[in-house]
Parts: sequence; C-alpha cells; structure tokens
Amino acid sequence: MRFPENFIQEVVDRTDIEELIGRYVTLRRTGANLIGRCPFHSEKTPSFTVTPAKKMFFCFGCHAGGSAITFVQKAENLDFADAVEMLANRAGLPLPKESANSARENGVPRKRILEMNLEAAKFFRACLFDPAIGTAGMDYFKRERRLTDATIKHFGLGYAPNSFNSLRDYMRARGYRDDELIAAYLCAKSQKSNTVYDIFRNRVMFPIIDPSGNIVAFGGRVMDDSKPKYLNSSDTPAFNKRKHLFALNFAKNCCAEKMILCEGYMDVIALHAAGFEYAVATLGTAITPDHARVFAKYTKKVIISYDADEAGQNAANKAMRMLGEVGMDVRVLRLNSAKDPDEYIVKFGANRFRQVLEESRTGFEYKAERILSRYDLSVGADKLKASRDLCALIAEYHSPVEREVYLSYASVKLELPTDALRNSVEQAIRKQRREAEAQESREAQASIRHFGDRINSESAQNPRAVAAEETVLGLLLIFEEYRNAVEKGEISLTGEVFMTAFNRRVFERVMTLHGSEAGFRFELLGMDFEPDELGRIEKMEITRQQLSQNGPEVFRSAVESLHEIKKKESMRGEDLNSHLTYLREKKAKLHKGKADTQ
Ligand code: GTP
Ligand code: MN
Repeated sequence: MRFPENFIQEVVDRTDIEELIGRYVTLRRTGANLIGRCPFHSEKTPSFTVTPAKKMFFCFGCHAGGSAITFVQKAENLDFADAVEMLANRAGLPLPKESANSARENGVPRKRILEMNLEAAKFFRACLFDPAIGTAGMDYFKRERRLTDATIKHFGLGYAPNSFNSLRDYMRARGYRDDELIAAYLCAKSQKSNTVYDIFRNRVMFPIIDPSGNIVAFGGRVMDDSKPKYLNSSDTPAFNKRKHLFALNFAKNCCAEKMILCEGYMDVIALHAAGFEYAVATLGTAITPDHARVFAKYTKKVIISYDADEAGQNAANKAMRMLGEVGMDVRVLRLNSAKDPDEYIVKFGANRFRQVLEESRTGFEYKAERILSRYDLSVGADKLKASRDLCALIAEYHSPVEREVYLSYASVKLELPTDALRNSVEQAIRKQRREAEAQESREAQASIRHFGDRINSESAQNPRAVAAEETVLGLLLIFEEYRNAVEKGEISLTGEVFMTAFNRRVFERVMTLHGSEAGFRFELLGMDFEPDELGRIEKMEITRQQLSQNGPEVFRSAVESLHEIKKKESMRGEDLNSHLTYLREKKAKLHKGKADTQ
C-alpha cells in the first residue's frame, strides 16, 4: 500500500507530536524543545528530544529519530503504511480511496457493518443452539470449558458451521451484498475461483461488543488443537483492535474501583461467570496506549492477570509500564499452579481467586519480594546484601514520595532504621547516575567510531568521505535553498560523488522528492527508509543545525571535499604523474587560499 505524498504530509501536519509522544514518554519543556527519557534505549539522564516546531524527535543517546510516523513505527512495531494509517485514524483523516484496502473498505458505512454483525451473531447463536448443527460447539463450551447455559447466553456465544457458504447465503437472503460482507470481515473472496466464502468455519464464536452495545467484531476458536487457535476480525470501519476490549460492555458498569486485565476471551468469561464482572481482555494484541487510555477513562486500578508463562510475564511488564504511564494504579497477579485465570478458577474456585486478587502486588512489592526471598535475613551478611539490593531498587524510583513509602516498607522488612536506609538509597542514586552517564558516553563514543556501523556499512572504509557526505546531506535536509542550488546546477553535486551507497541513496531520494510536486518533507523519506535509517538521517540534520551561521561556506567546502575524494579515488591506478600534478595543483591552491586570508 502506498499513500500519496500529500496525504502523508497532511497526516504529519494534523498530528500533535508533543501529545503523541507525551503518551509514551514524560516530557519536560526546555526552550523550544521537550526532553525526556528515551523510550527506545534505557537511560537515566534524558537525551530524547522532541522539537514540536519541526515535528521531529531525536535521541542523542541512541540516535533514534524522525517524524511522528517513525515514532509510531518504532513504538508500536508497525510498518510505514500501518503507522500512517494509525495516525490518520487518530487525526480523524479518512484514508484516500485508492490506497485503502479495497476488499474491506469500499465505503461501507459503520452502521451497515454493525447491522451485519448483529445479524451474523444471531445466526451463530441459532446454529449453536440447533442440535442438528451446533452439537460440537455446545459440547465444547459445556463439557470442555464448563460453561453454563446462562453464561453462554449472557455472552451471546455462537457456533459457525463447518461450511463455506452458510453465513454468506443467510446474509444474502437478508439483502446484504457480497462486497458488504467482505467489508465487515465476515466473508472473503477467493482469488482463484472468484467466489465469496465464509471466513469463520467450524469455530465457536465470541462476539465482541462495544460499551454502547454494538457488536463490532468476532473472535472464533477451533475446538481442537488445530491452528490458528483463534481467528479474530481484522479492523473494519466498526472495529479497531488497538482500542477495543473484550467484555467492556459488561465491565463498564462495575469497574469504577478496579478492573482485571487478562489475555484471553476464555479467561474473561470464566471470571465473569465466577462473579468478577470487571474483567476484560485485549483482542489478540498486546496492550496499546489507546487501550491504556480506555482504562484510564473507566477505572482507577488495573490488576494484570496474564498467563504464568514467560511470554505472559513479559507482556505483563509491558502492560505495567503502559498503564503506569497514564497514571493508573497497577497491580500484578501471580497465580501458582495454574497457567491462566480461567484454569485457576476451574481448579480452585472463585473464593481462592478473590483472595489472590486481594494479595495482588504493586510492581515494587513484586520485585522487592523476589529480592527478599533470595536471602536469609537472620544472617548478618545476607541482611546486608538484601538491604543493598533493596536500596538499589528503591533508588530506581524517581518520585521522592514513592521512595519514602518504599523506605518504610524496607525498614519494616529488614528491621533497620529508615534513616540508615535512606542514606544508602541516596548513595545508590548517585552511583546509578554515574553509571548511566558513563554508559551513555561509552555509547556515544562507540557510535562515533564507525566500526560495526550497520546502517552505512561502508563508513569504516571511508571515514573522511562519510564526514563530508553527512555534512552535505545534513545541510540539504535543513535548507531548501541548497536543494534549489543543487537542482539548478549552481552547485555541482550528483549522486556519483557519494562514496557510500547509503548516503548516495539518501541524496538521490531527497533530490527526487525536492523535484516532485509534493516537495521535500522529512516524513516522506519514511516510504523508502527503515526507522533506524531515518534516525541516522536525522542525526545528520540535527548535528548540523548549529552550522546555519556559516552554512554556505561549510556546504561548499564539504561538496568540494567530496569531489576531491572522488577524484583521488578514480585516480587510483591511473598514471602516477597526473596524480602528482593533481596534488601539486591542490597544494598551490591551498597556499593561495592561505595567502588570501592573511
Ligand atoms: P484457551 O486456550 O481457549 O484457554 O484460550 P485463551 O483465551 O486462554 O487464549 P490464550 O491465552 O491462548 O491466548 C490469549 C488471546 O490471544 C486469545 O484470547 C486470543 O485473543 C489471542 N490468540 C490466541 N491464539 C491466537 C491465534 O492463533 N490467532 C490470533 N489472531 N489470536 C490468538
Ligand atoms: Mn486459556
């Protein structure tokens, strides 16, 4: 999918980059910029900069940088087109017709899709309850998953028959056209035979209902071990999986105090059936900042109850961070002897789960307990180590109030006076700061040395050329007048004089865009460069900003160096005499230059 250039520009223009990034990073204003701690590498001293006027960000530590689109690409791990689409949705910009996925867009209005979903949900439910069709599904729900009739009805569960056209024909008979069924992600079109067929077949069906009671999408699960286990609706004009939460339609009425966030449909259903109706789940995706904002709208406290496996715990860490950033009180549940909440309730019942819920840990408690469990506090040396580790943990918290709270916790657990512990925390803070600074300067130095440069792999062999190339490119990126001068041939510069392929590619792309109707805009480079590459490109620009004073001189001399380096390169292997002549000429010119300025 390729968006028109002016659309990409409009998306960037309509995006408030400060607000966008502010949802991931705590930003502080310093003059025209905002700074914060980089979300893309770990650092203690902020080197992540947002420049709202230019609509760009850059990290001086890890050199991540680019436009709002690049940020979304990196933060959400999306490709360029998806990141553009996400920002367009946020800004309320309709996608241009030709680039929209024609199979599902086609201008079918949201209202029509909701109507179709409701009709389909009725169909799936009727199939589940029809003994001639739905026995397999009903057996699965009741025998394997231990659901009652009441729960099945409450959630509007259903069954999609093992057929390629039963839903399609049912819907056709009710006046829905094939293109509408495709737009709703209920049917798809086979490329080969050009026939339209049901997407959900031989699966138990979970309707996804928004807080206003609309059925916005479906999830369908196989009844055995085949793959894929779940099939979820793709995004449609009625559904955005980054925002919707399963069972929020029920949870919204009893969640002011707290909510439980789980991974799966079945976890949520089991919890609701056991009386925990404030449980919700994301829909086959990790939690996004949009989800975090939904939580912030409905509740004060979120208890994360993810699967006990490694993947679940990692996801829990991410969720903890994301919910913490919107100011939620976040807790984490640790379930022993069960892989997920569903299994826990089936095994141990609702009362045990309620108990576990009450014992849910804050992030600090969770980590502190792990430290304490490693030591025998009755042994002096161990107690010392435990207090050292605990103080280091407390030092990681930036709020002094928070640190005080944790200090009193540590003081009770370790039976040591708070003042003594506070001293070691302060020591730990200083130590961590020193280490962070040392680490950052090591990283900075490593990046100055060109070895291991993955973005411009030729830079180690051509350090002098790269320096000149990056100066030229940096200034070309900043100043339109240089691009004009190059375009008109006032300054002689072509791709050929670039020694490194990466920089040549940047130059050619910048000039092509400059000559195009849309004109050059940094974000348009995102069509052809990866986020890491964009960071490098922006570094060229940002580190040359202070050159604007004597820019023309610097630009001209850098271009000149490029020509010289190129000439020398092509001289290699040529007649030695001509090379010497060249060197003599150059030297004479240099002397003349010196004489002129003296
Ligand atoms: P059960 O195995 O039925 O207990 O499922 P679960 O609800 O516990 O799901 P699980 O923990 O395996 O996965 C959590 C969630 O991830 C599911 O509810 C789905 O939303 C999603 N998911 C799981 N498997 C798939 C898959 O194969 N494809 C997609 N798209 N999503 C999946
Ligand atoms: Mn499960």
